[in-house]
Amino acid sequence: MIWSRPMTDRKDARQPWALILGASSGFGEATAITLAAAGYDICGVHLDRRQGMAHVDGIKAQIEAHGRKALFFNGNAADDDNRANVVAELKAAVGAGGYVRVMLHSLAFGTLKPYLTPDADSGITRKNMEMTLDVMANSLVYWAQAVWRAGLFSDGSKIYAMTSEGSSRVIPSYGAVSAAKSALESNCRQLAMEFAKLRSGVTVNAIRAGVTKTPALMQLPEAQDLIDHALRRNPMGRLASVDDVAQAIVAFSGEGTHWLTGNVLGVDGGELVTG
Ligand SMILES: NC(=O)c1ccc[n+]([C@@H]2O[C@H](COP(=O)([O-])OP(=O)(O)OC[C@H]3O[C@@H](n4cnc5c(N)ncnc54)[C@H](O)[C@@H]3O)[C@@H](O)[C@H]2O)c1
Repeated sequence: MIWSRPMTDRKDARQPWALILGASSGFGEATAITLAAAGYDICGVHLDRRQGMAHVDGIKAQIEAHGRKALFFNGNAADDDNRANVVAELKAAVGAGGYVRVMLHSLAFGTLKPYLTPDADSGITRKNMEMTLDVMANSLVYWAQAVWRAGLFSDGSKIYAMTSEGSSRVIPSYGAVSAAKSALESNCRQLAMEFAKLRSGVTVNAIRAGVTKTPALMQLPEAQDLIDHALRRNPMGRLASVDDVAQAIVAFSGEGTHWLTGNVLGVDGGELVTG
């Protein structure tokens, strides 16, 4: 069986690409730049207003400074037409000499409304809930389908999705995001199983990062409490950084990890186990 042979990536002449969903900030940005330094061409998808575009240009410049391609798209990653356009353009750019080695789902876009409020207007609505689940959990499935159907995955491809301790713990403002994280982990397990049964050589894992200072974290009303709590319990004595996670993703994407699939991989310096 082709898929169970040891990976020999370094001898693989094909150019590896990484498709990063959420490439303009936080974990997605750090992973895009770190993978470029490791030799990957990068396709980034992000959602930014005009004032954020100078920062995106800076990320592209860092990728290109490593001699790699930076193909970026600004738009809603949960939109079907946007996804079809990105996949078509990515397929043309990758060409016959490459493949998508890494796909990272790192989208932060959800409601922080509580479920129970006296008035209906300030509480979570069906629309809020469905949008959060669609972007933060279910879009992983549609991207995996589209990239696979386009023939862009190959033996050795890795899919990752960013999850958090919130998949199994409650935080007051995190109800819908917590639901999305549970669904995201479940979607990873299902995709891992289906890709394995296809003998595709594609593996799927969720990455559970520790509390990390990013724009998404700082939007939570409880951000400072979460940071203080994480600092108290993390046995490494500091918070996780986006670079800690990016470096782990590069390492997981190297040789010899073809049997690693269907997991939630903690990249948190031991934060969970001491909590
Ligand atoms: N920061 C933490 O402490 C932490 C811990 C564990 C897991 N996570 C998860 O990591 C992921 C990334 O979070 P982050 O902290 O790096 O956030 P971030 O705000 O720094 O980055 C989010 C990225 O997602 C993009 N984005 C958001 N909605 C989008 C959409 N609809 N379409 C296209 N792009 C969109 C943004 O443009 C940005 O590039 C999230 O799923 C988050 O829940 C965060």
